[in-house]
Amino acid sequence: MSASETSQQSAVAPGGEGASGKAVGSGVFNVGLLGFGTVGSAFAALLQERAAQIEALTGRRPVLSGALTRTSGSFQEILDGSEAIVELIGGIEPAREYVLAALAAGKHVITANKQLLCRHGEELFEAARSAGVQLRFEAAVAGVVPVVRILSESLAGAHVERIHGIVNGTTNFVLTEMTSGSSYEQALAEAQRRGFAEADPSEDVSGRDAAAKMAILARLAFGTPVALDQVPYEGIEHLQTDDLQYARELGLGLKLIGTAERRDGGLSVRVHPAFLYSGHPLASVNGPYNAVTVESQAITEITMSGPGAGGPQTASAVLGDLVSAMLARPAVAAPLDPLPLVEDVESGFYIHMDVADRPGALAAVAQLLGEQGASIKSVVQHGLGDNARLMMVIHPLLESRLREALARIGELDFLRSTPRAIRVIEEEFT
Ligand SMILES: NC(=O)c1ccc[n+]([C@@H]2O[C@H](COP(=O)([O-])OP(=O)(O)OC[C@H]3O[C@@H](n4cnc5c(N)ncnc54)[C@H](OP(=O)(O)O)[C@@H]3O)[C@@H](O)[C@H]2O)c1
Repeated sequence: MSASETSQQSAVAPGGEGASGKAVGSGVFNVGLLGFGTVGSAFAALLQERAAQIEALTGRRPVLSGALTRTSGSFQEILDGSEAIVELIGGIEPAREYVLAALAAGKHVITANKQLLCRHGEELFEAARSAGVQLRFEAAVAGVVPVVRILSESLAGAHVERIHGIVNGTTNFVLTEMTSGSSYEQALAEAQRRGFAEADPSEDVSGRDAAAKMAILARLAFGTPVALDQVPYEGIEHLQTDDLQYARELGLGLKLIGTAERRDGGLSVRVHPAFLYSGHPLASVNGPYNAVTVESQAITEITMSGPGAGGPQTASAVLGDLVSAMLARPAVAAPLDPLPLVEDVESGFYIHMDVADRPGALAAVAQLLGEQGASIKSVVQHGLGDNARLMMVIHPLLESRLREALARIGELDFLRSTPRAIRVIEEEFT
């Protein structure tokens, strides 16, 4: 079905008139669609397929009142003829302008647009609150995993301590392939061949996409507005297959982890590759999947997982939001007293060093680590002729202290390459 076909269909479909001052047909709920690409076209098909089921649930039959693309449809006409607007254009403008106009006109808005939310979320949430309408965005954060709904509704009364998330399916697929022995380049090419990575994968592999999603999740869980540029992030581009292989010997698996947690009276939000022990709930999430773990004293720990992206899957999350909006569930609450953002946090680390195989090398490294307060948890050593490869896991240490220790270790005359470090998440859930 093309966008123009949808628009034509919709010229007949609106059973009444839009919410902007005109009467609305009692049995029909008009939905205006902005964007008719991968997700938009899947949403239009799903809406048609599920209309009767939704009518049974809500008492009104959702009907597409029009679809906007770059070349077809009129935003104003779609707005005037709809009670809810589904924004699936992506990017900042004109999506922001359209969403603000829809909210100001008293229409519910559903969007899958993480870029827009992590840059202009507060402006949009405030516009929705003052207009008394819904702004919903389940599909923007963790694919089909209903973490937005769980955080803002089911866990609204829980004092969340920490969220760990695998919120980018592309990087999780690449890391899964690398764990099986592929190089980074081979794994990325396979992800592109199977449609899990875009031709330009830089947003995903740099960790920036995950950082945007963690900023949105942190806002929801901790009531603190977090801008994208306040989220430090590292990607997976520099990871090496041998690190993943050696780490397996230490019982560790590698994931790109987004973290948002209470730390030292503040909030730390960050994204980086991290090793997990096999008992961690996120350790078994492989392939193009997303998963989020929420921790709080009241609930201990909840983990949700599911497909990370894809047109039909994302459209299903958008449709869930539409049904919630039709049932008039609550919008995002006003911010709480914002927590200060904390940057220097403690973490366990895996450290990889190539050294000359000489007596005292391990002791010298251990001493420099000890001077920074680090203690070694486990060590694996492989002989490489005159050299040796040392892989170790250290107990939690402030990142600034780890950097200092690595700088000093890097100056040792028996080092054969710059030491590498990857964070290790220590928690085990059994
Ligand atoms: N694809 C996924 O798996 C996925 C998963 C989660 C979230 N999302 C989010 O969902 C949203 C849509 O993604 P998508 O993959 O469906 O994108 P897409 O395939 O590129 O489709 C974008 C649609 O928006 C239209 N559009 C672009 N600029 C426009 C403008 N200035 N005015 C009117 N229409 C315009 C395009 O029109 P033309 O048809 O004329 O080009 C196209 O129909 C994005 O926010 C994305 O981040 C996508």
